[in-house]
Amino acid sequence: MKILPKKAISRLNPYKVCPPPLHGSATPRGTSQCMAKLDANESPYDLPAEIKRRVFNELKRLSFNRYPDPDALKLRTAFSKKVKLPLKWITAGNGSDELILYLTLTFAKRKVLFFSPTFAMYRVIGISCGAKAINIPLKTGFRLPLERILKQKDASIIFISSPNNPTGNCFSKDDILNIIKKTNAMVVLDEAYAEFCKDSFLPYLKRFKNLVILRTFSKAFGLAGMRVGFMISHPYIIREVNKVRLPYNLGLFSQVAGRVALEKSHFLTRSLRTIISERERVFENLCRLNGIYPYPSQANFILFKTCSCSDKLYSYLIKNGVLVRNLNGYGGLKNCLRVTIGTKMENDLFLERLRSYEKKKR
Ligand SMILES: Cc1ncc(COP(=O)(O)O)c(C=O)c1O
Repeated sequence: MKILPKKAISRLNPYKVCPPPLHGSATPRGTSQCMAKLDANESPYDLPAEIKRRVFNELKRLSFNRYPDPDALKLRTAFSKKVKLPLKWITAGNGSDELILYLTLTFAKRKVLFFSPTFAMYRVIGISCGAKAINIPLKTGFRLPLERILKQKDASIIFISSPNNPTGNCFSKDDILNIIKKTNAMVVLDEAYAEFCKDSFLPYLKRFKNLVILRTFSKAFGLAGMRVGFMISHPYIIREVNKVRLPYNLGLFSQVAGRVALEKSHFLTRSLRTIISERERVFENLCRLNGIYPYPSQANFILFKTCSCSDKLYSYLIKNGVLVRNLNGYGGLKNCLRVTIGTKMENDLFLERLRSYEKKKR
């Protein structure tokens, strides 16, 4: 007898990470080496060697046979200093993905609401948790569809990623405030890319009991491999989520690496400055290319439209060692690709490949 999953799950597709070759390894198609991995909005900069050494030195002294601290106290204490809020306003997750799951498990009674295009996991997790996933298209210019959002009276959670992945823009502060004030739902503001736009809703947390903020160390902090995320909100929300949170959800390694990176976060200033100036340089170069239309970005990636089929350009880039994200057909986007800002060399390679594609087409 074949055991069937729940109906809602059987209709889902697994989250696909398109060929994730390690730097220098062959792509699954065996056509080329991946020289520039620009598909997952990771930081191109690893933790500086002296910080890594410190992480390893601390780890050496810890017992691997024991469970880690279930409350990640030292990590949360370091983060609470950074955001200047008491510990009880913060919980930590195995990446912010895990916190999206906990919030949905805990609070999604009816509908979860999000926009298209946006981060895919709001929908996947919403459906997996048995909620009705309501997907409202963004307005022209990727603006929030305020009126349509406020019409949804029975939504339990509204997910807003700002800067939004994959469009790269921040939403209007007034629009977000309007939603928070007028809705009965919990508003989850996913600030995965906040460091790149230097704007945040953290100062509003104490004013609004229905506001939850998510942060991740997978992007600006360069700790995607460690899976460290934070949820910041009123303690009554944290208390409920902590009932659902798995014990020991954050491993020993992640707790130590996250805390040390926070304590030594001065390393961020330089890498952030470089990524932001590279973003502007890549944007200007994209604007100069025929048939390529980039959208302004306040994150560490740029969405761009191609005048011909983006699938072909995507394959060409892979064949020539550059991996970006193909978003053709995703969330209402047509012929769009998303490129993560890499090192100067990676960005140059990407731009050079685009130019050679253009020449080849002529
Ligand atoms: C908007 C947004 N939220 C959350 C995440 C997931 O981050 P994490 O690695 O912390 O799970 C991503 C990852 O791409 C993202 O784009």
